[in-house]
Amino acid sequence: MRILFLTHSFNSLAQRLYDELTQEGHEVSVEFDINDRVTEEAVALWQPELIVAPFLKRRIPDSVWQRHRCLVVHPGPAGDRGPSALDWAILDGVADWGVTVIEANGEFDAGPVWASVGFAMRSATKSSLYRHEVTEAAVQAVRLALQRLAAGEKPQAQAALPVSDRGRAQPFIRPMVRPLMHQADRAIDWAHDDTACVLRKLHAADGTPGVLDEVLGLPVFLHGAHREGGPRPPAAAPGTVIAQRQGAILRATRDAAVWITHLRRADGVDPTFKLPATLVLGERLAGVPERPLAPDAVVDTPTWREIRYEETGAVGWLHFPFHNGAMGTTQCQALTAALRAAKARPTHVIVLAGGPDFWSNGIHLNLIEAHPQPADESWRNINAMNDLVLEILLTDKQLTVAALAGNAGAGGCFLALAADHVWARRGVLLNPHYKGMGNLYGSEYWTYLLPRRVAPVAARRLVDNRLPVNAVQAAALGLVDAALDGDHAAFHAAAASRAQALAADPGLEATLNAKAQRRADDEAAQPLAAYRAEELEHMKLNFYGFDSSYHVARHAFVTRVPRSRTPLWLAKHRGKKPKPR
Ligand code: COA
Repeated sequence: MRILFLTHSFNSLAQRLYDELTQEGHEVSVEFDINDRVTEEAVALWQPELIVAPFLKRRIPDSVWQRHRCLVVHPGPAGDRGPSALDWAILDGVADWGVTVIEANGEFDAGPVWASVGFAMRSATKSSLYRHEVTEAAVQAVRLALQRLAAGEKPQAQAALPVSDRGRAQPFIRPMVRPLMHQADRAIDWAHDDTACVLRKLHAADGTPGVLDEVLGLPVFLHGAHREGGPRPPAAAPGTVIAQRQGAILRATRDAAVWITHLRRADGVDPTFKLPATLVLGERLAGVPERPLAPDAVVDTPTWREIRYEETGAVGWLHFPFHNGAMGTTQCQALTAALRAAKARPTHVIVLAGGPDFWSNGIHLNLIEAHPQPADESWRNINAMNDLVLEILLTDKQLTVAALAGNAGAGGCFLALAADHVWARRGVLLNPHYKGMGNLYGSEYWTYLLPRRVAPVAARRLVDNRLPVNAVQAAALGLVDAALDGDHAAFHAAAASRAQALAADPGLEATLNAKAQRRADDEAAQPLAAYRAEELEHMKLNFYGFDSSYHVARHAFVTRVPRSRTPLWLAKHRGKKPKPR
């Protein structure tokens, strides 16, 4: 089918559906929902047989849904209506939730249902649930809807689907419209809310809009909450900032404490985007004690830290769940130091495990944007990333594995390629390209790492097309070595057993020797320093040259400037005309 995606942005769900439907042989073009006239124009140009709306914030114009079948993906079970579906589900602590594909009929989420798929809720942030459970259920629901369409079936009226298509009993939801969730609904009452309630409120608001609050006299939105299980000063009033660690603050609750990693200023003073909490609070934190925690420190109660190292037999695991996968200069340096320490251990394999939601998204664009000299900070950050890549490449006593449970983009994707083995969870999407960020050339030794794995024509296509590739495609291209089935827990278990097998392989020494030989041969052909120097020449132009595209694109990305048009690499209908069918 010729399908038009009408979407607020090409977010992770839109990327995943685009990828799935394209793989199934559908011809998909994308138009951002900018205004009714632009939507009508896209429809006229692409002449779609079906319109799919993976992520919409506005109603589809009457002129479009009245003439074309439009399927809207709603992150709630059949019957649920309203713009804050997941937020309410998290706040209410429901056990099961779902995704429904609804035919647009002019009223928000009220049309007949084509498919509805349920899932068990997990204690996690809204964006984590969206990236995992919602996305998987949405893929299944859209597939079911397309199968039913092809079979000539008709959609069912709302409330006629109390049980999900996967068999999981869904909460019966009488059709009801839930309002937009306001800050008043999210507000934390520190004196009365217990830790579980505080976490639900914070999770329901993360990544956006955060929970409006006041910290040390500064109005802010709170983001990135983690439970602390250790002791808290008994005299600390709920809400008090009692400690700081690696950019995060620890606030006492009524019955325990929570780490808050990021804040967004709410007093209108720049910068108004998300930054590490201690950076936003600055001198207000004077006297608040540091509570450091080394990556390899063993703790027996829940806590939060940016980098964690653990060992299972001869396998060392480095976890680095950096918020949004963004890696600033000091984070790259801390990870490089943790890797050096891991290399000094008597292990055979080091697994670079990233985080559950993202493996890495490259340099930290928010920190760069907030810096008084963004070009200088970009330069420092990319060099710190390069040092980390180099540290991985020069690991000679262990085999290295990049285990991608979450997505990787731009420099983060090439960082993974530095490992000897790259394994990705099947649902993972990779964005192995930089150009989307104002034509950035990129570094991270990608000019060495990509040709090591991918044939030249395919490599060029990856870099130029600026489109996501899924783990299975990536394995077919050689970009990754294996696409492993299952959810996060199953992926972790599969990666652990593969890593143990590598560590126990009697041929390990020969493998390490062959690796050293290959590195020496490659170095003789072209030194790593030469790849780095050449990439950085281009990056210097991106950062300091007369063409400011990177700075403009970064500013727009970080400050969420609404797109005024759909990029041409997504809006195929704005390129060549579709062939008549
Ligand atoms: N620095 C800072 N924040 C980043 C980031 C980065 N490199 N990459 C992603 N983020 C943030 C986003 O701003 C967003 O923040 P939010 O929690 O406030 O919503 C969050 O991570 C999720 O990103 P989003 O764009 O919504 O995810 P996606 O899955 O739809 O898209 C990417 C993934 C990688 C395609 C997209 O995030 C991207 O282009 N990132 C920039 C990559 C880049 O150019 N890095 C610099 C060059 S190395």
